[in-house]
Amino acid sequence: MINANPTVEAHYEVLEAEWKSVDGSLDFERLVVPTGNSESPFHRWFHLKEAFSVDLLPVILKKLNFDGRGELRVLDCFAGGGTTLVSALEQSSETCVNATGIEQNPFLHHVSSTKVDALRAGSQLGQQLETAYKEVVHLCDSDASLVTQMPSLSTFSNEAYFPPHLLSSLLRIKAAIQRADTSVLTRNVLLTAAASCVESTSRLRRDGRALRYASERQPREPMEEFSARVQQMIEDAESARPTSGFGTVLRGDGRRPLLYVDESAKKDLIIFSPPYPNNIDYTEIYKTEAWYLDFYADAQQFRSQRFKTLRSHPSVRFSDEYEYESSSDAASVRELLAPILEAVPDDRYATGRKQLIKGYADDMLTLFRQCRRIISDSGRLVYVVGNSAHGSGDALFVIAADLIMARLAELANWHVDEISVARNLRRRITNSKFLRESVVTLSPV
Ligand SMILES: C[S@@+](CC[C@H](N)C(=O)[O-])C[C@H]1O[C@@H](n2cnc3c(N)ncnc32)[C@H](O)[C@@H]1O
Repeated sequence: MINANPTVEAHYEVLEAEWKSVDGSLDFERLVVPTGNSESPFHRWFHLKEAFSVDLLPVILKKLNFDGRGELRVLDCFAGGGTTLVSALEQSSETCVNATGIEQNPFLHHVSSTKVDALRAGSQLGQQLETAYKEVVHLCDSDASLVTQMPSLSTFSNEAYFPPHLLSSLLRIKAAIQRADTSVLTRNVLLTAAASCVESTSRLRRDGRALRYASERQPREPMEEFSARVQQMIEDAESARPTSGFGTVLRGDGRRPLLYVDESAKKDLIIFSPPYPNNIDYTEIYKTEAWYLDFYADAQQFRSQRFKTLRSHPSVRFSDEYEYESSSDAASVRELLAPILEAVPDDRYATGRKQLIKGYADDMLTLFRQCRRIISDSGRLVYVVGNSAHGSGDALFVIAADLIMARLAELANWHVDEISVARNLRRRITNSKFLRESVVTLSPV
């Protein structure tokens, strides 16, 4: 068991003592991971490993005494697969919900906005899907010449990853969906179904950090996979309760919600789980689905997508400029980050790690400042975040995102109501009590 850097740990102790910190494992341990999502209608359309649970929002609404309200305006700045939005719209038989999401990744935006649009479309979508699906099967089985272009990402030409006959069938399914005579929504649902088969019909596996080659894996047959997924979608659409709520997912930068959300239309609840500062790059992890659906035309577009994401990973070298440096909070942010920056070992990763720490803090401060301007007086902001260990051996230190964000939120005029520790992470690596995932509640000051 490795001792984490003691100076950084002491810094976190002092910070944490300023707020109410509780053991939230009973309430939240199973809700900060996607418990129940792969069995729940609409949520199950694409399995996002990094999602939180379908049951998180109802529990939060209850805890905050927001359940049973006549009206609820919700914002998720990092919508991912759309868990918040779908859960919010499912509330809406009792409550008039207005749910907005922002998501930067083109594929995840496709998934979340399609789920939301489908949920709102009502049960007639089921019939439309059935008809379009039959046409797709017919086109794939027939001699129709379908234009199937191989994505230019080299991963697809690796025959060990993508056996050619399976890839060709996967590409034919996409081409048939594009050819089918159907509505935009139905096409988007079918494309979601096809994209959700990319991983299972290959020998690639997402292990949480990266896409890995799994040589032992038996890739599934694309049309069988696709058909099974479409059948689930038809079932979900047909059994959907009509929702009077409004929901939308915008493609854009969740760090700056004011670019998209009218400042006068205040929110009751802002809830999100940002990318954690743990080097995971969503652009990379969901790249095969995004290339399959033609969201990137070339390597340049793929690379520029990375620059649009939160500075939580070192996959690209972001500019070394930080807005907080020229703000009135510069000294407070420097004081907050100094012990952590000093703990960064002086090795070849040093520059990237320091940039990640400063960039993440900069992004979070911008986010909290902007969110502060759109929260209602009685509103709340809830964030779910995980802390991570960096470095190794004697040089190991923890980035406690829950506490760093709480302090930044204070600088942006939020009050930290509670830090609820949902679960401890991989305690066998280090004995740091700060290696954990938390649910933090803020209210406007
Ligand atoms: C932890 S996931 C959110 C998962 C979501 N809570 C769910 O249950 O599906 C974080 C998301 O933030 C997205 N993201 C990264 N940078 C972003 C940015 N600048 N603006 C908006 N979204 C961004 C990632 O693509 C990813 O989908």
